Amino acid sequence: MEPIIKRFARYNKSQNSHDKQPATRHFFPLCLPKIGSIIFPSSYELLPTITEIFELEFAFYEYNFLNKDEIIRRGAFFKSVDGISTYHYLICSNNTPLLWEGRAEITKAYFKEGNFSTGYATHGLFPYRGKFHPQLIKGILNILRIQPGEVVLDPMCGSGTLNVEASIIGINSIGIEKSPFCVLMSKVKYEALKTEGDVISFILRDIHKHYKALTGSNILPEEFSYQEDFNTEKAITLLAFLDAMGYARRCSKSIDILFPSVLKRYTGQISSFIQVRDKLNLKIGNARFENGDARDLPLEDNSIDAIITSPPYSFAIDYAENDRPQLEYLGYNVDKLREGMIGLKGKNKKEKLLMYFEDMGRVLSEMYRVLKPDRYAVIIIGSNDIQTGGIRLETRIEEMVTDIGFSLDQKIVKPIKGIQNTMKDEYILFLKRGGK
Ligand SMILES: C[S@@+](CC[C@H](N)C(=O)[O-])C[C@H]1O[C@@H](n2cnc3c(N)ncnc32)[C@H](O)[C@@H]1O
Repeated sequence: MEPIIKRFARYNKSQNSHDKQPATRHFFPLCLPKIGSIIFPSSYELLPTITEIFELEFAFYEYNFLNKDEIIRRGAFFKSVDGISTYHYLICSNNTPLLWEGRAEITKAYFKEGNFSTGYATHGLFPYRGKFHPQLIKGILNILRIQPGEVVLDPMCGSGTLNVEASIIGINSIGIEKSPFCVLMSKVKYEALKTEGDVISFILRDIHKHYKALTGSNILPEEFSYQEDFNTEKAITLLAFLDAMGYARRCSKSIDILFPSVLKRYTGQISSFIQVRDKLNLKIGNARFENGDARDLPLEDNSIDAIITSPPYSFAIDYAENDRPQLEYLGYNVDKLREGMIGLKGKNKKEKLLMYFEDMGRVLSEMYRVLKPDRYAVIIIGSNDIQTGGIRLETRIEEMVTDIGFSLDQKIVKPIKGIQNTMKDEYILFLKRGGK
């Protein structure tokens, strides 16, 4: 395989120095489709939602790195090639009526807007804060040319976005996470990809019975315990309940009203995916999840083909506090849990930062250890110097990875929507592990 650095250098010379700050990207929504038609032959049609420069850049890499058949099967930025719809387009646009049942026009419009980038397959099941942009992850897997049968890892997998994306294109994956609630969330999103229509019917049939059991006590009822014996039907219902619990906390509606509508949305999203999965005969990759610590990975040396991860944005998001109601309902001691979570320890900002970088140093060394020689780790990191006393996270991480032995091949900048008050851009760092 030609090293990525060469390919990048060929296609993207001006961006190839990590000493320089990458060029600022601007937002040109109206011009992009036109630019697209100049860059790509007329037989390649971009997705209708491409409105940002980084999306065009990813489409460009897919066009150059994948052949036509691969773009159809695993591309993330094209609508069609030679008039044949891409699987990504079909997966994202197949919405069963169940998905829209009883939903307000404004909600429909919101979900439709994110259809091709964030809301497809099972990604929308729990809106985990700070999760990856799924379409981007598929794009990165394509740039890295990860093949079915290979194993990718996210050592801080959060809601399992990498695992879901990898599975959809037949790639095996591992997700490690400190928060047991995230492990549950990731597992549900993954297992739901493999579920069958009868499971959806059972969920809808038992909706009231399950709700009664879940609200009958302040902690998880025995019949819903999922550690030993994972029951997909019950786990999907449980996640919808925990989602509604958080939603009820943020708005003034009661969980009685929210739970059935959240669960119906879940079943709608899952049915939409499994319908198209069967039509396209997709072979879902294997994924396994472990409640573990990224600073001490329970994995063999040189065993992983690629890593894609993002460090905790603990300066902007307190993950333990955010998920406190759900964690407590599941029976976990949140104060104990936060002791092992990166970025949440320390008495003041200075101590917090010190511990954060110390912990991240351990995570990066572990990533280096488990990655196979000559393979890539990709770190997606939001720029944030407001809550870090002027220290730019991505600059510091870049220095650390170089000390560990990675070489920085490429850096792509992507604007962040949503938490722009604290983080404006995300940096995508492509790090190559040395040969020995
Ligand atoms: C930015 S989020 C990851 C989001 C994820 N990429 C997704 O798409 O959902 C970072 C995650 O790191 C987890 N984390 C914090 N400390 C950890 C540790 N010591 N080991 C493993 N995961 C940890 C947090 O719980 C959080 O879910």
